[in-house]
Amino acid sequence: MMMEIKTIMVIGAGQMGGGIAQVCAAAGYTVYLNDLKQEYIDKGLARIENNLSKQVSKERITQDDLNGTMDRLKPTTDIHDAKHVDIVIEAAVENMEVKGNLFSRLDEIAPEHTILATNTSSLPITEIAAVTKRPEKVIGMHFMNPVPVMKLVEIIRGLATTDESYQAVEKLAVDLGKTAVEVNDFPGFVSNRILMPMINEAIYTVYEGVSSPEDIDSVMKLGMNHPMGPLTLADFIGLDTCLYIMETLQEGFGDDKYRPCPLLRKYVKAGWLGRKTGRGFYQYQ
Ligand code: CAA
Ligand code: NAD
Repeated sequence: MMMEIKTIMVIGAGQMGGGIAQVCAAAGYTVYLNDLKQEYIDKGLARIENNLSKQVSKERITQDDLNGTMDRLKPTTDIHDAKHVDIVIEAAVENMEVKGNLFSRLDEIAPEHTILATNTSSLPITEIAAVTKRPEKVIGMHFMNPVPVMKLVEIIRGLATTDESYQAVEKLAVDLGKTAVEVNDFPGFVSNRILMPMINEAIYTVYEGVSSPEDIDSVMKLGMNHPMGPLTLADFIGLDTCLYIMETLQEGFGDDKYRPCPLLRKYVKAGWLGRKTGRGFYQYQ
């Protein structure tokens, strides 16, 4: 019998966690939104309210819809609130140690039936599952940025993930208005195995002085009809996340073709992480 999901905890109120919490609450779920500090949650909630207000002004939703969605969001800095939920969707930083610690704590706190999902961009689901005593209930639920707009959710099965867990997560994705695609657990899954080497190659193209960031982006926007050029997209995703993903691909496949561009490393070391820090390949106010 498929389990029914009613309450959700989202871990991390950053650009992805905030978006995931928004679409879950808008679809009628009760959502605990967790981050390390109250100020991070407040920032996330302000971004959600701002997104919803734009929808109200475009008459896509009513003020009552907005109020209802905001009411269903329960801010919490206490991870023990995981004891109230049917699924946890983790969207903290792309770092194995952080995710490993979170999943072993969640495994102790959450009820037995609770599914533990991760929005990781590239880290192995099977390895994250291995720190828990419920690997059959650990799964990748990979949303795309910006979450309220992008239709895809990649659902990644770890080695031990059961059909029951898969079906519950697929039903949730469909309920959120998304299209689910099933993927097996290999580095970068499908999305980032294909997307990130293109972004990394665009960075090499800057590094080698082939062209300017603006012109490289124009080539891909106007020549290939991409909605954003690869460097604008890298800034949008976050250069730290791009670097973590390239490192995972390089380590996972052991192939030099995934070597992160030294310029990407340099920007991340400088704290130029893209839009979220105001500077990456471009400057933002
Ligand atoms: N949050 C919520 N809504 C947003 C948004 C955001 N950050 N940015 C844009 N929108 C909404 C706008 O409000 C607008 O909504 P309406 O149609 O209701 O008016 C709609 O999106 C279109 O926005 P704009 O007209 O302002 O701009 P646009 O047409 O250029 O679209 C975009 C913006 C949707 C982001 C588009 O540029 C795009 O598709 N870019 C590529 C995004 C992409 O490739 N994402 C995947 C990244 S990879 C990933 O996520 C995986 C990973 O692991 C790294
Ligand atoms: P972000 O930096 O915007 O947000 C991460 C948030 O997690 C921060 O608010 C941080 O304070 C919080 N956090 C860190 N450790 C925590 C912990 N132990 N407990 C609770 N909260 C914690 O990052 P993001 O872009 O939202 O990425 C989050 C995850 O989503 C990463 O795994 C990333 O790979 C993945 N992802 C990112 C994108 C993207 O385009 N940026 C797309 C798909 C998936």
